[in-house]
Amino acid sequence: MLARALVPELRSRGWEVVALDRAALDVADEAAVHRRIRDEESDVVVQCAAYTAVDAAEADEAAASRINAGATRYVGEACQRIGARLVYPSTDYVFQGSASRPYQPYDPPNPLNAYGRSKLDGERATLEVQGGLVVRTSWLYGSGGSNFVDNIQRLARERDHLDVVSDQIGRPTWTASLARAVCALLERRSKGILHVTDGGEPVSWYDFARAILAETAVETAVRAVPSSAFPRPATRPRYSVLDCASTEAVLGHPLPAWREMLTQYLHGDGSDV
Ligand SMILES: NC(=O)c1ccc[n+]([C@@H]2O[C@H](COP(=O)([O-])OP(=O)(O)OC[C@H]3O[C@@H](n4cnc5c(N)ncnc54)[C@H](OP(=O)(O)O)[C@@H]3O)[C@@H](O)[C@H]2O)c1
Repeated sequence: MLARALVPELRSRGWEVVALDRAALDVADEAAVHRRIRDEESDVVVQCAAYTAVDAAEADEAAASRINAGATRYVGEACQRIGARLVYPSTDYVFQGSASRPYQPYDPPNPLNAYGRSKLDGERATLEVQGGLVVRTSWLYGSGGSNFVDNIQRLARERDHLDVVSDQIGRPTWTASLARAVCALLERRSKGILHVTDGGEPVSWYDFARAILAETAVETAVRAVPSSAFPRPATRPRYSVLDCASTEAVLGHPLPAWREMLTQYLHGDGSDV
């Protein structure tokens, strides 16, 4: 999803972009990663390739780790050799979720699940690269991948009521607004750890589902249920709101409100940017 928004955003800002899918480059192939980054003489590498199947990672942590951590290490080493900067999108799931205020970038991480552990290892590999930038985000949706917004709309058409969990709190983020922020941070040569989510009041998945359906013509009842109503292999943090103040200070403006971004995604021209 993210790469679909990021590539056109970068190009619109004048970057020359080489976009590689899995068929063009398997990031788990160390030699191929080194060869490709050396041959492209990249200035910046954005590591959008990721293992994002949060529940499946519980049964195969090695697979998640191979991509999110191992491959990121290869990419980082290849960047370091040619002096390229590395940008690594990461996740709110590096946090345990027991906080009662938004997580700051340098709060101690403590992931509850295998996916979160693999992403945290990827962050560490990124921060070993000179100028490495970790951009943590949360609750991502957008074109080009399975996501909560599209799934709720589809389920609402299929069912007469929906049960949605109300005890996990976070902030939704549209891939297009994340892409804009990542580009702006790149242009400012930011490094270290920064948080980028859409702004506005944090919400539960239940609140978010209601906002999505308020934008559509489908009449479907939504019921708030606890996470225990949907037992899943991976435990999710109860509260994973990311504090984006340091990012907003760098950008010089607030991040856009999630509610407005949702409206743009649902009623825009169909493109992400
Ligand atoms: N989605 C969220 O809610 C969320 C929340 C917070 C943070 N993030 C982070 O944001 C980033 C972008 O997430 P996303 O949802 O856009 O991810 P995504 O849609 O799942 O995209 C990941 C991409 O990585 C590719 N990939 C996987 N293994 C690969 C390999 N060995 N070689 C090359 N490519 C490979 C996948 O290709 P295939 O399609 O061929 O598998 C897919 O195109 C990730 O780092 C994720 O951890 C996501």
